[in-house]
Amino acid sequence: MTDSRPSLRVLPDAGALAQTAADEVLRAAQAANDRFTLALSGGSTPKHLYQRLAAADFAARLDWPRVHLFWGDERCVPPDDPASNYRLARETLLDHLSIPSVNIHRIPGEQEPAQAAARYDRRLRDFFGGLPRFDLILLGLGDDGHIASLFPHTPALQERHRYAVHSTAPVPPIHRVTLTLPVINAAARVLFLVSGAGKAAILRRVLEGEATADDLPAQLIRPARGEVIWLVDESAARLLSH
Ligand code: 6PG
Repeated sequence: MTDSRPSLRVLPDAGALAQTAADEVLRAAQAANDRFTLALSGGSTPKHLYQRLAAADFAARLDWPRVHLFWGDERCVPPDDPASNYRLARETLLDHLSIPSVNIHRIPGEQEPAQAAARYDRRLRDFFGGLPRFDLILLGLGDDGHIASLFPHTPALQERHRYAVHSTAPVPPIHRVTLTLPVINAAARVLFLVSGAGKAAILRRVLEGEATADDLPAQLIRPARGEVIWLVDESAARLLSH
């Protein structure tokens, strides 16, 4: 199988980025067969996308009862903690949709990290019946090149058997649960959302720098049977050569 080459689209601003990302979510949902499996990303960038997906004019275009929501990673905090990726999605998206609660596969961040990871791993195995092949995985880009909670030079980044593991971050919240590289690289589509001037330097390193093994986890995202789409705004793209 040949790797699909990543595609890069530069959008004028964060609003256009959110709209284009919402269109990509819809395209992936339309390409899915019965159920649509989507792994949400955390951090701050996806907030505008979630708000766009929740807007009435857009929400009506998705058949939410066949959408199954997972998370690419979660901080090991209670679900109502301001740092919770679930809380971000609940406030901006879930609270505005009629999606069945059984379709929301939350990572139990309030539990002891290793137990939370094991439970999420079990849920992935039970739901997918083996290696998960998500229809779409959303990813942000960390300033150190991390994706989900797979940080450079960490055991979690090296994991090749489990689907979800406990990882530790160099910045608080330290303890996380994250999808592992084999799961991300098994996806049908991976959509990176990168916004703001603060991401310009790391985006250039990832897209135009030399491949640096574990230094930049984002460079390891190469689904063998899937496409990678980078949606970036002009501020984040300002240091790219083309
Ligand atoms: C998290 C995210 C993480 C995030 C990047 C970018 O839990 O923090 O999953 O991987 O996507 O750190 O974060 P921003 O969107 O806030 O820049």
